[in-house]
Amino acid sequence: QGAARVLVASNRGPVSYEVREDGSLHSKRGGGGVVSGLSAIGPDAGALWVCSALTDGDREAVRRGVGEDGVLMLDIPADVHSDAYNGIANSVLWFVHHMLYQTPLEPVFDAEFRRQWASYETYNRAFAEALAGRAAPGAAVLVQDYHLTLVPGMLRELRPDLRIGHFSHTPWAPPEYFRMLPDDIAGQVLRGMLGADRLGFLTRRWADAFEACCAQFTGGLGNTRVGVHGLGADADFLRARSHQPDVAERTAALRDEIGTAPDGSARRTIVRVDRTELSKNIVRGLLAYRQLLDDHPEWRERVVHVAFAYPSRQDLAVYRDYTAEVQRLAEEINSGYGTPTWTPVLLHVKDDFARSLAAYRLADVALVNPIRDGMNLVAKEVPVVSDEGCVLVLSREAGAFEELGEDALAVNPYDVIGTAQALHEALSMGPEERAERSKRLAASATALPPAQWFLEQLSALEEGTAGEPG
Ligand code: G6P
Repeated sequence: QGAARVLVASNRGPVSYEVREDGSLHSKRGGGGVVSGLSAIGPDAGALWVCSALTDGDREAVRRGVGEDGVLMLDIPADVHSDAYNGIANSVLWFVHHMLYQTPLEPVFDAEFRRQWASYETYNRAFAEALAGRAAPGAAVLVQDYHLTLVPGMLRELRPDLRIGHFSHTPWAPPEYFRMLPDDIAGQVLRGMLGADRLGFLTRRWADAFEACCAQFTGGLGNTRVGVHGLGADADFLRARSHQPDVAERTAALRDEIGTAPDGSARRTIVRVDRTELSKNIVRGLLAYRQLLDDHPEWRERVVHVAFAYPSRQDLAVYRDYTAEVQRLAEEINSGYGTPTWTPVLLHVKDDFARSLAAYRLADVALVNPIRDGMNLVAKEVPVVSDEGCVLVLSREAGAFEELGEDALAVNPYDVIGTAQALHEALSMGPEERAERSKRLAASATALPPAQWFLEQLSALEEGTAGEPG
């Protein structure tokens, strides 16, 4: 295989494999911003996506030499991967970036952590070496996320000719929080990132935090430039997809599940769709909904909270516990408030994209209340898809707030009473104001669709090496 002129590196790749009972391999292509961005540069661009084998099927595919053109899967030993992914990336870096640690979950940087950190280095080096081996002279490499913070620095040493970019899809913590990491580790993360020519963040706030960390730990950014690219929703794809037959079918089924109010009108819906991550704040969302039913009993029987909470990172005990807590609380609300004709919370935990779109279509109110979020694409997708326009109740801690804040109802994610009030205000809003706001939300949300988001970074990376000042 030849050398690639554009390379993307991320932990999770665009395709995954499953071994069927008859021993055959079945492949499944994933979606998401980077996938559609990469397809925008076209099949002739000589692009290569380097990712890691995550499932047994993936490892089997690598062993059998099965793969897709343009995708290179690295078969990193399962224990090294688990240390790097579960131990460091998702248990330490994710919590630091989202500022999520709470007593007694606060980290203990002991010998076990150091051992896992060594695996994180090994894992990052495997990526750097694979990229160095496959990149054409002067190629552009776009490294994604907190799993791969050391790759830019390692790759720079191996291949000084490359143009290297890194993009963070998460928040970045300000130095007062970031310095919770041991000094040498904090320095290694920042210097690893600064091996890139250009670093991308989703919002100004995260970019500023990164710069502030560098000011404190590395004496500044050096020659690295920092840019903000607010990934938007893909309007064309979403609108077309949400009118396919499978979504129409699920919309009808969901409408039945939601049912009608005592006066025969359709019930109002408060919709949320999340991966069940601690940062998504699903439990406080349910508490706020319960508070709404207490403070405004007039909504009982007339509203349904449609909550889709899809499993994520179930290898981690805190994630499993959180999922259980979400389920417990939803059941408690249903048994405490439900009636023979009304189920207050419709909680679904099995991932189904078509059903998510059905919920978006029926949303009167979208609840997006994360404690912290890099961007949150659900906030951007619902206004685009909703049939009648929706009111967005949005945490001011979501990156999307920078772009959507003016037309959303802002909430402090910790404030359950305030969130309940915002839900009431959202449900009470007149149809005209709601439609107008929803239209403006959809326009802001689609300002930078994934393909453009990707191309913008690529051209910024190219401009930089032509000697443009940062
Ligand atoms: C979230 C974050 C991304 C991250 C992804 C990884 O969506 O916003 O920054 O890359 O999680 O998810 P995974 O399922 O691979 O752990």
